Amino acid sequence: MRLALAGPGRAGRAVAIAANGAGHEIVAVAGRDAARTSAAAGQFEAVPLAIGEPIPPVDLVIVAVRDDVIATVAGQIAPVARNAAAGVVHLSGAVHVDALSAFGDHGVGIGSFHPLQTIPTPALGARRLPGSWVAVTAEEPLRSTLHGFARSMGCHPFDLADSDRTTYHAAAAAAANFPVAALVMAQRLFERAGVPFEAARPLVEAVIANAFDTTPRASLTGPIARGDTGTVEAQRAAVLAAAPDFAPAFDSMAEATSTIVGASQDQEQR
Ligand SMILES: NC(=O)c1ccc[n+]([C@@H]2O[C@H](COP(=O)([O-])OP(=O)(O)OC[C@H]3O[C@@H](n4cnc5c(N)ncnc54)[C@H](OP(=O)(O)O)[C@@H]3O)[C@@H](O)[C@H]2O)c1
Repeated sequence: MRLALAGPGRAGRAVAIAANGAGHEIVAVAGRDAARTSAAAGQFEAVPLAIGEPIPPVDLVIVAVRDDVIATVAGQIAPVARNAAAGVVHLSGAVHVDALSAFGDHGVGIGSFHPLQTIPTPALGARRLPGSWVAVTAEEPLRSTLHGFARSMGCHPFDLADSDRTTYHAAAAAAANFPVAALVMAQRLFERAGVPFEAARPLVEAVIANAFDTTPRASLTGPIARGDTGTVEAQRAAVLAAAPDFAPAFDSMAEATSTIVGASQDQEQR
C-alpha cells in the first residue's frame, strides 16, 4: 500500500518502519515540527509536509498523534487528504473512531488500528510489532484492508467494537501497567532486604508464563492464595517498617489479591 503518516512520533514511526519492511511505501510524513518531520520523512524517502499541506494520493493515512489531538489534527488534514485517501486510521486504543469524522463526512473510510504493544522507541516498537496483536475497528472494506495490513507485518489482527473500546483499554492498562507497578514495589523491598532485583527474574517470568499457559488465577500462589492471614499481616508490618511510602500500595494490592481469590472461589462454588 501507499501510506501517509501524520505525526512522526514513537508509534507512528514504529508502524512505518514495520510497514516499510513489509514492502509498503511511506509516501508522505506530515508533522508540526519541520526538523523532526524531515528527519522521519528522510528515513523512508518520503515527502515531508506540514500538517495541513496537501497529501499525495494514498491508500491509507495513519494519524499517529497524541490521543488528545487526534480530532483536531484530523480536522486539519481532512480538507487536504479527503480526496486523496481511501482510508484513515488512528493508532489509539482509547479514542473512539468518530474522532476521525472529519474524514468520514467525505466518504473516506475511518477506523482505528491499535497495536497491543508497548512502543518506547520507534526501533524497539518496530522490532516488537511482528507477533503482536492489533485491535481493528472499522467497517468494510477498510476492515479487510487493515486485517491484511496487520498480517503483512506479522501481526495478529482482531476486531474490536468501538463500544467495547474503553473496557478493552482498561484491560490493556491492567495487563501492561499494574505488573510494572508491582515490580517497582518489589524492587524496593528486595533492595531493603539486601537481595538483587535480578534474583526475581526467573520467578516473575515463570508466573507470567504460567498465567498464559493455564489461567491467571491458576498461576496465583503464596500466602493470600493459601488463606494464610498471619503471614500476610507480618508482611504488611515488615513493609511498613522497611518502605513506609509503599505500605498503602502493598495493602491495596494485598486486598485486591484477596478479593480476586474470594471472587474466583465463589465462582468455583457456583
Ligand atoms: N507508544 C506506545 O506505546 C503506543 C502503543 C500503541 C498505540 N499508541 C498510540 O499511538 C499514538 C501516538 O502515541 P505516541 O506514543 O507515538 O506519542 P508520541 O511519541 O508523543 O508522538 C506523538 C506525535 O504527535 C505529534 N503531536 C502532538 N501534538 C500535536 C499537535 N497539536 N499537532 C500535530 N501533531 C502533534 C507529535 O509531534 P511532535 O514530535 O512535534 O511533538 C508526535 O509526532 C497515540 O494515539 C497512542 O495512543 C502508542
